[in-house]
Amino acid sequence: MKFFADTANIEEIKELAETGLLDGVTTNPSLIAKTGQDFIKTIENICSLVEGPVSAEVTALDHKMMIVEGEKLSKIAPNVCIKVPLTWDGLKACKALSSSGININVTLCFSATQALLAAKAGASFISPFVGRLDDISGNGMGLIEDIVNIFNNYPDTLSTEVLVASIRSPLHVLESAKLGADVVTVPPNVLKMLASHPLTDKGLSSFLADWEKTGQKII
Ligand code: E4P
Repeated sequence: MKFFADTANIEEIKELAETGLLDGVTTNPSLIAKTGQDFIKTIENICSLVEGPVSAEVTALDHKMMIVEGEKLSKIAPNVCIKVPLTWDGLKACKALSSSGININVTLCFSATQALLAAKAGASFISPFVGRLDDISGNGMGLIEDIVNIFNNYPDTLSTEVLVASIRSPLHVLESAKLGADVVTVPPNVLKMLASHPLTDKGLSSFLADWEKTGQKII
């Protein structure tokens, strides 16, 4: 399973990229606004830090302008992936841009039928938002299960990767992996939580206390 960071913060991305565990980055207009930085320059910077796909979202609502914006954003770097919303216009733009070889991430997906349409429109990634569904008492992980099952029924014709978005906790990551989702995009704080366990901390401090008693050094 691939791990993307769900942030536009350069410092956070730098730190995560240094681990060698980062496969890509997703941004959206809200995450860009949070940085207070120039959109194009931010995407350019992120693309220089990460080899994998970096999602940059169009803001036009009609498909013709989405295509113009998508073409402009795709020229920033070879690893830019254009994000379009899951609307009729977004699907049309997805079809047109993906047909010209541009990678598309269709975002704001909340149903399996929406995901199916995005796959048919040639999306490289479909982004179902699990946290926002859970927030309104929906079943985020149930949606992932449906989409993974549906895509698995058509291995020869549907190659879209399921990118689990709007992740709120390590449990969302665990469930995504169990269901066979292709990618998770995770806020940096949640990504770090994946590595921590109280028994690891406890075990390490008792190992170090015992090591101290030996009076030895490795180097
Ligand atoms: C990712 O592509 C989405 O933009 C993101 O995961 C949304 O997450 P949120 O629901 O926490 O804003």
